[in-house]
Order: sequence, then structure tokens, then C-alpha cells
Amino acid sequence: MIEIKNASKSYDGTQVLRDIDLSVKEGEFVAIVGYSGSGKSTLINLISGLVRPDSGTVTMNGEPIVEPGPERGLVFQNYSLLPWLTVRENIDLAVDEVFRSWTKEEREAHVTRHIEMVKLGPAAHKLPKELSGGMRQRVSVARTLAMNPKVLLMDEPLSALDALTRATLQDEIADIWLQNKTTVIWITNDPDEAILVADRVIPLLPTAPATLGKSIAVELERPRDRRAVNHDERFKALRAELITTLLDSKASRTSKVSMKLTLPDILPENVEDVNAFGRWSRRAPKRRNENKKEEVEVSV
Ligand SMILES: Nc1ncnc2c1ncn2[C@@H]1O[C@H](COP(=O)(O)OP(=O)(O)O)[C@@H](O)[C@H]1O
Ligand SMILES: [Mg+2]
Repeated sequence: MIEIKNASKSYDGTQVLRDIDLSVKEGEFVAIVGYSGSGKSTLINLISGLVRPDSGTVTMNGEPIVEPGPERGLVFQNYSLLPWLTVRENIDLAVDEVFRSWTKEEREAHVTRHIEMVKLGPAAHKLPKELSGGMRQRVSVARTLAMNPKVLLMDEPLSALDALTRATLQDEIADIWLQNKTTVIWITNDPDEAILVADRVIPLLPTAPATLGKSIAVELERPRDRRAVNHDERFKALRAELITTLLDSKASRTSKVSMKLTLPDILPENVEDVNAFGRWSRRAPKRRNENKKEEVEVSV
């Protein structure tokens, strides 16, 4: 469904991503894990259509992705709700825009179903400022799902939340996915989160520029119980593999190079080259390093 072939992306002459190849099937739940600043948002925005690659191709069902569209729903880390609208109105706005041909009743029922799905029924009339971070992110998820996207793109959706709320939302979103099986690409900086929610985890290696590592399949049964999974040998092995891959490529990034440097020339010029009348001779006086080259070896 989503296919990236040999894509690269630079900002102001600095290459951020190189040789990106990614293929996601319909109904798959894929997580991409990487360090902060390694290019995760750039990667997901190649798929959302907010960023265009410098080279390579990004397609959805064979069609090039050139701009954002409702078939690719994007959830950001920082909620992005309209502060003057209630929970329901925030979702209404998206639904009214996408499903213009539906009747008012159809749209209302659709919005209600999505508010219930993320357990926000009692808060439907509240403004974003009256909600906790976890509740706001639930609204974001509901709003995006309510647009019936073919693929859900999640850019660190839970990174701004505290650990406990984060765990609750991971479970809730995994449960929603089990019901509707929308294709999901989930970006995170947390290896455990990736393994808990996804069918397949791909490390974004922080080589400069970053590139995708080998896919790791997660064959743990769903629904996954986070307490049981902590003692599961398969979970521990996956986590070790993922963390080792990320750490190893970070270590290889700071490679050692030794080079020879010529010392700076800091002695005064040779005054003997000045002629008898006190004026400079034709030839500029010899510098010290013309007579004797001094080099030191350093490691960086
Ligand atoms: N629009 C932009 N212009 C210039 N540099 C950018 C832009 N967006 C991201 N970058 C740079 O690209 C790198 C990767 O950024 P990003 O994709 O946001 O990483 P992540 O989401 O993994 O934290 C960073 O060094 C960031 O400063
Ligand atoms: Mg980011």
C-alpha cells in the first residue's frame, strides 16, 4: 500500500535521510523506532506528503504522494486541537470537511461513535484546556480515525505524556486497531512501545545520514498483556536485538580518524631579508614553515 524506494532528503545541504526503502502492506501495523533528531518526522512526512524527497519515490497504491490527503491521517505529538472548540466540535470540523455528502444525522452518529471509541463520552462538551494531555491525545486520535483514513500515520503520538497515561493509550490504540485493522505507521523513540503495539518494528539507524535497518517481526499474540509480556523470553530477545542494533549504529557514527596538521606559523618574519635601505626586498621574507615543516598527529 505504501512504498518508499531509494528516497533521500536533505535540508540546507545537510543530508538527513539516505537510501530509504520501505514497503507497508494493507492492514499492517509497523513501528519505526529512532533517536530524537534522527529524521523520524522527516520520514513520516514523506508519507504524509508534507515533505518531498530529493530523490527516490514515495507512492500509495502505486500513485506518487505529492501532498497531504484525507486517505493518510496524521496524528502529531502535540495534539493540534483548535482551543476554542469543544471535543465534539473539533471532531465535527474534520468530519464535516471530509464527508460533505452525508446527512447531518449520519455525521453526528459517526462523531459520537468515535468519541465513545476513545472513551471521551463524558468530556464531549469540554474545551481542550479543560482536558489532560492523555485526553487531548485521545481527541486527536478520534478526529483522525473519524476521517476514515486508509493509513494512520502517528508521529510520536504519546511522547508528550507521562509513563502511565502512555501505557494506557498504547493499549487502547492497539485495541482499536484490533477492531478496525487500519494500516498504521507508528513513529516512536521507545523500543518497548514499538514492540508492544506493532507487528513489525524497523529501527531508523542514526548513521549520518539516517537510514532504515532490518525489519524485526513481532510475533506476540494479541491482545498483548504488558505485564505478561515483560516476562516473555521472545519480548526480551526482540528488545535486546532492537536496542543493540540502535546502539551499534550510534557507536559506528563516531568513527576515529587521525590526520596530520601543520602547526601554525607564529614566529616573526626573517628581518635579514630586509635590504640595506630598510625596505622590503622583492621576495617576501621566508616564513618559518618554508624552511622546516612541522606536523603533529591528532585523533578526532
Ligand atoms: N524544515 C526543516 N528545515 C531544516 N532542517 C530540518 C527541518 N526539519 C527537520 N530538520 C532537521 O533534520 C533533522 C531531523 O529532524 P526530524 O525529522 O524532525 O527528526 P526527529 O523527528 O527524529 O526528531 C534534525 O537535525 C532537524 O534539525
Ligand atoms: Mg519528530
